[in-house]
Amino acid sequence: MMVPDWVEASHEPPRWSAKENSFILTRYADAAAVLRHPEVQVVELGNEIARLGVRWRRTFPNLVTMLGGILVHRNPPAHTTIRLFLKKSLQNFAADLSESAMRRSVDSLLDTIPSGEPVDAVHVLATRFPAMTIARALGLEENFVANVMRTGAQLIGAWHRGSSLKTYERLENEARELSAAMTEKIREQRGMTGGLGRMATLGASEFGLDDDEIAAGAFFFIMAGTRTTAMLLGNMMYLLAARPADRERVMADPGLMKACIDETMRFAGPLRHVGRVAGPEMCLSNVRIPPGSAIYVKLEVAHRDPEAYEHPERFDIDRRGAPHLGFAAGIHACLGTGLAHLEAATLISTMFRRFDVELLEASPQWQEHLLFRELAKLPVVLRPISKRKTT
Ligand code: HEM
Repeated sequence: MMVPDWVEASHEPPRWSAKENSFILTRYADAAAVLRHPEVQVVELGNEIARLGVRWRRTFPNLVTMLGGILVHRNPPAHTTIRLFLKKSLQNFAADLSESAMRRSVDSLLDTIPSGEPVDAVHVLATRFPAMTIARALGLEENFVANVMRTGAQLIGAWHRGSSLKTYERLENEARELSAAMTEKIREQRGMTGGLGRMATLGASEFGLDDDEIAAGAFFFIMAGTRTTAMLLGNMMYLLAARPADRERVMADPGLMKACIDETMRFAGPLRHVGRVAGPEMCLSNVRIPPGSAIYVKLEVAHRDPEAYEHPERFDIDRRGAPHLGFAAGIHACLGTGLAHLEAATLISTMFRRFDVELLEASPQWQEHLLFRELAKLPVVLRPISKRKTT
């Protein structure tokens, strides 16, 4: 059926790839060991760009600060401080991100969808809902968040060996504009008891951060919390729309929702890989990894490892066994796991409770993307289920 033939099947000890300039990890046990290793590092994007600037006798202060907020590219001790700041900021957003607030927001979004007509569920639901959610938490307009997402995607892809000075100058200009727009929003909300205003007060008073650094943290929330969640929502909508037996079980027993989200993360998780750098020398599956080596952790391949999962090619919501690594693990484990689960549970359960969902393509098209596993579109027709039928 819908199992796309995208995941290479071989699970071998780490091998060096000259093309990727990295060790490639495909076994679940190796992937989990690297992610949980306390001394494994990440590439610090901001520092790499600052180093390039020294070579060109230029500085890229805005690019370095914005990328410095991207926690998955920071190592301790800076990582430890920024992680605590973002963790506390997320806790402060709890009231705006509660289950009841989320349900109201899903209902209002679903009310806008024309029933009985073809729509692209990726575009009108999966992409919009996480952007609405982060916008509400930060006290921003949804359009503003959508613009940040567009510019941010270019900045995050900024560090490529071989990019020209001209490219970095353009990115520095974009980072300056983005930073100015974000700090302007901080100024507008200064002193407020919620959203970005509260995040700014926390950042300044407890962590000694200035507005640019707080803007970089808020920028990262937008980037980390929107597109990945949109992919989970789209992938899960499709899997459940295409599998009536699983859908009926999950709708009849909400206790199964978590297992269904976990299995979607394993089977079709948004991030295909993450990168690491070996701190000390490591030994994985009897292969020596020299200190400082780049490591490419292929999450989606590890998620198909038969040593970790029985019949890994099957989507099985009753699955027991190794926890998936789709939110990573160890010191960089995703801070938004709970939020992503809540968004998925609320949108999926409300949508299938209110509507019959007809898939218009039996095998929708997946995007060709090196990093992400996402649907290009999900054409569906939603038809309201009559009240009598739902009670
Ligand atoms: C399904 C949705 C999501 C997926 C698949 C996902 C996945 C991940 C992964 C794999 C990492 C680690 C990356 C690495 O180690 O290189 C990560 C880190 C992170 N995520 Fe998520 N994420 C999701 C949603 C969210 C949300 C909703 C937020 C909050 C707004 C969030 C905030 C973060 C933060 C702050 C980190 C950095 C943790 C650190 O480096 O210490 N994520 N996420």
